[in-house]
Amino acid sequence: MRKLEKILVTGGSGFIGSNLIRYMLHQKSFSGKIINLDKLTYAGNPFNLTDIEKEFKSRYSFEKVDICDRNALSQIFKKYNIDTVIHLAAESHVDRSILGPQAFINTNVIGTFNLLEEVRSIWKDKTDVLFHHVSTDEVYGSLGETGSFFETTAYSPRSPYSASKAASDHLVQAYHHTYNLPVTISNCSNNYGAFQFPEKLIPLMILHMLEGKALPIYGDGKQIRDWLHVEDHCSALWTIVQKGKLGETYNVGGEQEKENIVLVNTLCEEVAKAQGLPGDTYKNLLTHVKDRPGHDRRYSINCDKIKTELGWNQQFNFESGIKNTVSWYLNNPEWIKQITSGEYTKWIETNYKN
Ligand code: NAD
Ligand code: TYD
Repeated sequence: MRKLEKILVTGGSGFIGSNLIRYMLHQKSFSGKIINLDKLTYAGNPFNLTDIEKEFKSRYSFEKVDICDRNALSQIFKKYNIDTVIHLAAESHVDRSILGPQAFINTNVIGTFNLLEEVRSIWKDKTDVLFHHVSTDEVYGSLGETGSFFETTAYSPRSPYSASKAASDHLVQAYHHTYNLPVTISNCSNNYGAFQFPEKLIPLMILHMLEGKALPIYGDGKQIRDWLHVEDHCSALWTIVQKGKLGETYNVGGEQEKENIVLVNTLCEEVAKAQGLPGDTYKNLLTHVKDRPGHDRRYSINCDKIKTELGWNQQFNFESGIKNTVSWYLNNPEWIKQITSGEYTKWIETNYKN
């Protein structure tokens, strides 16, 4: 039996991590503690968890640590008797990986290696522990007009980001096979929802609409992504850490494939509708710009395995997910202000002087 009493979430102040911490602490079946370990890069926002710090004082702790710092990691593992790691900490944005890949290699590859080494030395041959690694469908490469990614699809990463995630996935698998480390891996499609840093497509477009700025569509906009609501991703991760089979990979997807241009047009309509404005209010802001180098054309994920073997299912479809997300951004102007003004980075500098 897995313990699931002291869960270390790496990257817990980011988009998916903060949603996951909130999700797990609200599960009636979970009474354990969560330790959020995060370096607080530009993508880590302490304000994402202000409510959780207040509501779950005795069950939630935060540690500002870089996973590339092995000594600091060791101290955290000595301080808390951690039985589960859910590893989300990463450099996560493809465009940034094209501009500067070094941080991606450091955090995604070396950082993951450090964590694996640390749990290997601390856990030894324990069997009631788990290292769950969160990865992306981008490791499988780019599809033509047909077909989908399965767990058995050969890896073919094409950006520095996806290559660094692929390397980390391989390390996790290798630690399972070589050292018998209890691991599970998930590869998910594009997430969206509350608290997403506005460099990713959906929040970027919503914020640009609110500011009357151009909506940049890379190339022809006919690239296809599968959209997974972050709350559905959280329920999938919670299912896997409870029931996932050791050494297995699970694909997680929304099964909601859309061309970028279709998605952005829908977003324009939803934002306008929510504000009581005509549906075409924002459409004149759509601007085709130079394509991303090496831009993957289509992703499509088959997630039958987690559905049939672990009984997981999505709760959101594209329409309900977009409505929910637009409503969250429109109702949280304070969060948007903290992000766009850089208030959160000033708060970090003041509170963590090291
Ligand atoms: P994010 O960029 O919003 O958050 C990443 C978090 O990791 C931040 O809080 C950041 O401060 C932290 N971090 C970065 N470097 C660190 C380091 N060296 N040490 C400690 N903490 C560090 O990312 P996200 O969108 O929440 O993604 C989380 C995970 O899910 C990543 O592993 C990503 O590859 C994966 N993923 C994301 C998506 C998506 O659509 N967002 C899709 C598939 C997979
Ligand atoms: P993104 O959110 O960066 O996720 P990923 O690259 O990991 O899929 O981008 C989603 C899609 O939207 C991708 O095909 C690139 C495209 N895109 C734009 O057309 N314009 C933009 O401003 C951004 C950020 C992305």
